[in-house]
Amino acid sequence: MQKARKSFWSELPADEIPMDFMEQVEKMEELYMLYECAIREVKTKLENLNQEMDFIWERNPIQYIHDRLKSPRSIYEKLKRRNLEISVENIWNELADVAGLRVICSYIDDIYAIAAMLQAQDDVYVLEVKDYLKKPKESGYRSFHMILETPVFLSNKKQMVKVEVQIRTIAMDFWASLEHQLRYKGEASISDSIRQRLKDNAENIYQRDLEMQEIYKEINRMEDK
Ligand code: GTP
Ligand code: MG
Repeated sequence: MQKARKSFWSELPADEIPMDFMEQVEKMEELYMLYECAIREVKTKLENLNQEMDFIWERNPIQYIHDRLKSPRSIYEKLKRRNLEISVENIWNELADVAGLRVICSYIDDIYAIAAMLQAQDDVYVLEVKDYLKKPKESGYRSFHMILETPVFLSNKKQMVKVEVQIRTIAMDFWASLEHQLRYKGEASISDSIRQRLKDNAENIYQRDLEMQEIYKEINRMEDK
């Protein structure tokens, strides 16, 4: 028989910790457990697609996958920024990126291929799509974003959980990672000219991505002859 989970908090003297605090912590732990399961579900789907594509295309469209759970601090800052009360309900209902996956692909076409394959799976629900390849952000940022909802199968129920998936090329990831670091050094100290240089680099990198894809296609055409 399954044993009920013993709560750490229930073992402390009753007057030591405020009741609502204990409840919130317990609920947060449950949320993190659900988000972790959802990340694993979607990551497995992506890994399976990558393996199948390796079999069919004889190459991997996905180079690597990063996953992350949004830290309590980032959750707090995001709710504050959006003027929302800090509560477990608001995390669950209002935030779509607590569970995050970043999928790094070889070529631009791979991004759309992987996104379409994932979207087509009948237990994946697409809540939102943002194509920052077709329409880059003001910073120059390019990436393909999706908010998905996926079922997590628990002992007694099926729970739908939101996951943010960002898909980009190695080159786009190189730019986004460095730009993120630079921006966090101090948003205010970044001048317009630096901003422009970062943006120009993003465009430049995109041109290299297009060029690498053309080279890949040309080699494939030659091999097909
Ligand atoms: P957030 O409040 O940041 O989640 O923005 P949003 O809800 O409008 O979503 P959006 O799709 O614009 O961005 C979500 C995520 O994309 C961010 O958390 C970053 O990881 C990434 N991102 C968006 N814009 C930029 C950018 O200009 N530079 C970098 N490096 N990353 C970005
Ligand atoms: Mg976000």
